[in-house]
Amino acid sequence: MNTIPLDSILNDAKNLLAETSSLAALEDWYLRYFSRERGELNLLTREIPKLPPAERKPFGQEVNRIKSVLQEHFDARKRELESVELSKKLLRERIDVTMPGRAIAPGHLHPLTRVLDEVIAVFAKLGYNVAEGPEVEDDWHNFTALNTPEDHPAREMQDTFYVETGAGARLLRTHTSPVQIRTMEQNQPPIRIIAPGRVYRRDTVTNRHYPIFHQIEGLVVDSRTNFADLKGTLTLAMQEIFGKDRKIRFRPSFFPFTEPSAEYDIQCICRGEGCRLCSRTGWLEIGGCGMVDPSVLQAVGYDPEQVQGFAFGLGAERIALLKYDIPDIRLIWENDLRFLRQF
Ligand code: PHE
Repeated sequence: MNTIPLDSILNDAKNLLAETSSLAALEDWYLRYFSRERGELNLLTREIPKLPPAERKPFGQEVNRIKSVLQEHFDARKRELESVELSKKLLRERIDVTMPGRAIAPGHLHPLTRVLDEVIAVFAKLGYNVAEGPEVEDDWHNFTALNTPEDHPAREMQDTFYVETGAGARLLRTHTSPVQIRTMEQNQPPIRIIAPGRVYRRDTVTNRHYPIFHQIEGLVVDSRTNFADLKGTLTLAMQEIFGKDRKIRFRPSFFPFTEPSAEYDIQCICRGEGCRLCSRTGWLEIGGCGMVDPSVLQAVGYDPEQVQGFAFGLGAERIALLKYDIPDIRLIWENDLRFLRQF
């Protein structure tokens, strides 16, 4: 008679199974009983040959019955533990759908961008096309073709970074006027363009000077243009931008590439009272202008007897200062959000 206590093995196994509290513990339990090599139930099977022949069959049958009972219990326990762990996981990873989202603040355009867009829109209404040129410019377009030969004293006033010196000198353009030359070289009159862009100059930083700034160049070439057209155009454009109440004035000036030449000013943000921004003059210079010098027309192969033109350059930062009552040009470049949020 064999002495192996199958009933108590079954009961122990059931009890241990009921005590398992996680899938990992369940896995250990399973290996303990069902592992092919060392599982207790398989070890029992190996006892069969040692039994008296008459007992072998019933013993084997009993072991198989225990196996299938335990397998059923195991499957049931597994389903239980799986659903317990699933609900724990759901609880742990719960998303609070009522939580408000993180707001993404809508941005807005920089005041300078707004000025550039607005000036372009004003001139577009007057029939001007937008032209562009490189910021690293060659000597010919930035100076020589603009009637400013190598030894001309006007070069001194517009000193800049030279990327290459000597014969093929290239430099950071000091103004947008080279776009006049590029446009005329590639087109025949009539011409009516504005050319917005960055320019660079050696300059001392003050509340109205900065060594990098934006200009908006204008050029008109036609068979009958005169200084009154220039004055009328600029006055109209400035009134569109600043409103009719803001005063504008023209002062005689000199540029190598225009004759006669003028500079034009807008009443300062102090409305003429005199402040630091305008050095107490009540006016802020916006740019230069004049009738295109015949030698410039000749440099691009035009006949000055057939066509004339006028040109102007607007300082975009200066317009922003005047339009938005900004007392210092540096604010435009600092990107301080406390400043930018005010627009
Ligand atoms: N290019 C000149 C400057 O930057 C301005 C200007 C433009 C003057 C067009 C006359 C005509 O100072």
